[in-house]
Amino acid sequence: MAHLPPVDTFDYIVFGGTGDLTMRKLLPALYHRYRDGQIPDASRIIGTARSALSRADYQQRATAALHEHVKPEALDEATVQRFVNMVYYVSLNGAEADSDWPTLKTLLDAVPATRIRVYYLATSPSLYGQICENLSREGLVTGQSRVVLEKPIGTDLASAEAINDSVGRHFPENHIFRIDHYLGKETVQNLIALRFANPVFERRWTCDAIEYVQITAAETVGVEGRGAYYDRSGALRDMIQNHLLQVLCLVAMDPPVSLEADSVRNEKLKVLHALKPISADDVAIYTSRGQYMRGTTGDRTVSSYLEDLGEGVTSETETFVALKAEILTWRWGNVPFYLRSGKRMAEKSSEIVIQFKSAPCSIFTNKPEPNRLIIRIQPDEGVMLSVSTKDPTPTDSLALRQADINIEFEKAFNIRYPDAYERLLLDVVRGDPILFIRRDEVAAAWRWIDPIEQGWRENKAPLEPYAAGTWGPEGARNLLSQSGHLWHEDMKK
Ligand code: BG6
Repeated sequence: MAHLPPVDTFDYIVFGGTGDLTMRKLLPALYHRYRDGQIPDASRIIGTARSALSRADYQQRATAALHEHVKPEALDEATVQRFVNMVYYVSLNGAEADSDWPTLKTLLDAVPATRIRVYYLATSPSLYGQICENLSREGLVTGQSRVVLEKPIGTDLASAEAINDSVGRHFPENHIFRIDHYLGKETVQNLIALRFANPVFERRWTCDAIEYVQITAAETVGVEGRGAYYDRSGALRDMIQNHLLQVLCLVAMDPPVSLEADSVRNEKLKVLHALKPISADDVAIYTSRGQYMRGTTGDRTVSSYLEDLGEGVTSETETFVALKAEILTWRWGNVPFYLRSGKRMAEKSSEIVIQFKSAPCSIFTNKPEPNRLIIRIQPDEGVMLSVSTKDPTPTDSLALRQADINIEFEKAFNIRYPDAYERLLLDVVRGDPILFIRRDEVAAAWRWIDPIEQGWRENKAPLEPYAAGTWGPEGARNLLSQSGHLWHEDMKK
């Protein structure tokens, strides 16, 4: 139950209110926090979208979404009913000036203007500027208004800057919350605790002790129904530009002087600025890209990416990317950071692997394995340190064997691990931007990504096929093997 005091009463206005994100993530997240007593009953959640729905229709959809996406043990009908009473709907095209803004305005003006308003834009990013302009023209941007922007912000640096300029004309930077749901994941936040509250790690968190770092976000699903969006994006823009670079920042940044948002964001920005550029001509050396073919996931035969897109479609979009990043600072000199993400891979697993350096020599029968710290982001959030111990098998010599020190958070603390959106949605109401991305971070990330996209467009690195249900194309393995390094699944063999 609740550990946090309730937030102030708010209105959450969701553009894209009938979309998948709203139904699958936003409504369930708000429901959980309502059930935990953190949302006052007078708050309102106002869905807007183009469909002509009544409030009752929309409430029905919201109820169905909760039944589909909230675990049965967290659903009780009385709470669902009270939650759904907070839900409203306005049929509106947010990008059009002559849409039904008066209805939204009447609804919002029915409560004091001092109430916190959150405009959550879960639409195509190309509409963000227009929606903000309409909100502003209609006088709906009060001093207590915030806007949340879903990723991806743009498709390259120029388009991201254009979006940020257009939103920035109507909202000050400290009222703009650029969401990256990876920052809401408990284990990602835990990185800050792990690193900066435990000298045992932080004192060794440098190129003196660390050989290489891997950050993986692997999914078993394909593109599902999102082909139209995904095919214009691809894994690099969909996952690496935002989620994985953010995780990399938290792994690599220097200690911030406080937990004040800008203090942390300044340190992350330094990491992004220190990334060694990968030029278009170098993409074959530093990157591997692939697209999934037919294969097997569990005991199911699954179709290829092209089949998922639809009959007769061709595409050069990558559904897998692996790359070798380097951070040009004293702390990280010569330590590769391998990032990879893909769809239809062997397992659903997001994790960080810190591979420490080997012992310089051995006095034992066998050589000690290097220590390895594994931070599991999902599933089964936890931290595992592999250490060399004495092999207990009776022998006449002292040999070593690997064993794990393992913390599984859910078991250790006996608490439900919340979905990332729960924390983030209420942080916006609290006005706390620490887990959101500042404009200059978005720009720095695109500045690093753009030349890679360019090199791929110019076909300077092959698009390799990989079978669904595997760990990606051969090129990804080669990326590491040239330095004598292994991906985590290969270390286990
Ligand atoms: C989203 C991407 O941001 O993250 C999706 O657009 C991806 O393509 C999803 O499936 C992965 O999130 P998670 O939390 O399941 O790792």
